[in-house]
Amino acid sequence: MSNKIIAGNWKMNPVTLKDVKATFTEIKRSVGSVRGVSVLICPPFVYLPELKRLSLGGKVEIGAQDAHFVDQGAQTGGVSAYMIRDLGIKTVIIGHSERRAGGDTDEIVNKKILTALTAGLRVILCIGEAVRDDKCHYLNTLQEQLEKDLIGFPIKLADRLIIAYEPVWAIGKNATRVETPDGFLHNKIFIRKVLAGIVGRKKALSVPVLYGGSANATNAGDFLSVGQADGLLVGRDSLNPKNFAEIIKIASKS
Ligand code: PGA
Repeated sequence: MSNKIIAGNWKMNPVTLKDVKATFTEIKRSVGSVRGVSVLICPPFVYLPELKRLSLGGKVEIGAQDAHFVDQGAQTGGVSAYMIRDLGIKTVIIGHSERRAGGDTDEIVNKKILTALTAGLRVILCIGEAVRDDKCHYLNTLQEQLEKDLIGFPIKLADRLIIAYEPVWAIGKNATRVETPDGFLHNKIFIRKVLAGIVGRKKALSVPVLYGGSANATNAGDFLSVGQADGLLVGRDSLNPKNFAEIIKIASKS
């Protein structure tokens, strides 16, 4: 059985290097000898080199929150997937709803994914609907995102793809409610079905599908067992070492 993936998305936090180091060191210590879980922390770009260094000799992997679709050049403020890879970092989140809200269309997300793969990175592709409707029209949104974001995806690189299903309405402190584990399972099956049409049935079955959106120590167990999530993408609770450690512990037991 493959490891559960517990990924922390720190977003634009913390704002001091001192807090970054303290938070990370506590997480690294708590992961210690935990088995059966792959732990990933995705800090803001500026902290990647320092955290990569601090992560050495431990079990916490460092990932990036985004990468540009151009490999290098005149892109003020941009960060290239090749720069990320050069730091020894292997994983990047692409298509997070907060980046999509900031202008990342499916076409941009698609280009970012293809560049990241060419640079040698593994991609956590975030998808999720903004509104949940009773008639399940939102499933069309998920299908459209996957099909557009993965145009030209090299099937042989399917082992470098992770999907994070994050319904936008369940993300962050303004979340109206949280997805249910049953609801997640329903969507995971749908996502795998769409993926089968893109990378083939066999490979689709091995693509991990994570849940994200107010995942925390209280609901983690249910998402991982009842919801059969292959892991979690955690925002707020990944900045709280105690809560994050609890989620990791739960994942190691499920
Ligand atoms: P949240 O964020 O856990 O704070 O809801 C999740 C995410 O946006 O990845």
